[in-house]
Amino acid sequence: MSQVPVITIDGPVSSGKGTVAAAVAKALGWHLLDSGAIYRVLGYYAQSQNVALDDAEALVKLAKNLPLAFQQNAAGEVQVFLADEDVGRTIRQESVGELASQVAVIPAVREALLQRQQDFAQLPGLVADGRDMATVVFQQAPLKIYLTASAEERAKRRYQQLSEKGFSANLSHLIEEIRARDERDTQRTVAPLKPAADAIVIDSTAMSVADVVNQILNEARARHLVAEQ
Ligand code: DC
Repeated sequence: MSQVPVITIDGPVSSGKGTVAAAVAKALGWHLLDSGAIYRVLGYYAQSQNVALDDAEALVKLAKNLPLAFQQNAAGEVQVFLADEDVGRTIRQESVGELASQVAVIPAVREALLQRQQDFAQLPGLVADGRDMATVVFQQAPLKIYLTASAEERAKRRYQQLSEKGFSANLSHLIEEIRARDERDTQRTVAPLKPAADAIVIDSTAMSVADVVNQILNEARARHLVAEQ
């Protein structure tokens, strides 16, 4: 792969990866890949096109031609477009996360999305957030982070996040859903969620976002990926 430095941040649902990855990318002035958004958009697109979530052939066709674009708005927020439709808010719903988790278990779908993800590696660098960034998509990344937290803590964070966005949520359902999603993501045969052998595991259960971001930036400096400050 190219000389573009990549920091991978993998971990289970609601581990804080998205927030942490965005903060690290911003601090470094690097690009950001939210790979989960790609699976979410595909799941949503499949449903809207009446494609069955186990029809691998049809899903691969959709994946290869997915009219997906990430665009930064004036406020610096990343917007997600499916053709002309701004789907940024829609794809964050739990129901769309479910669809994403189902299309993501199909090997041919993952393969069809591989190059699209690798193309995000552009200078001056990339922070890649997902499940298999370190183990599959960017295996040569010089810094690999595996971010986790207890299921209860993650459910609490998800609850807060959903409430802030105006979605209704139920904490005990969220804990159950998170456990079920963990099970599916870690047990699937293709690209299961697991820390890469050379990943640094950060358990953020009792850590603030700022602490996690600082730890990652320190690891990046220690590897000379960014200038010492
Ligand atoms: O990170 P997220 O919650 O937005 O991801 C949604 C789903 O997509 C998740 O259940 C697993 C799947 N996913 C994946 O299989 N591989 C990735 N690199 C990112 C997400």
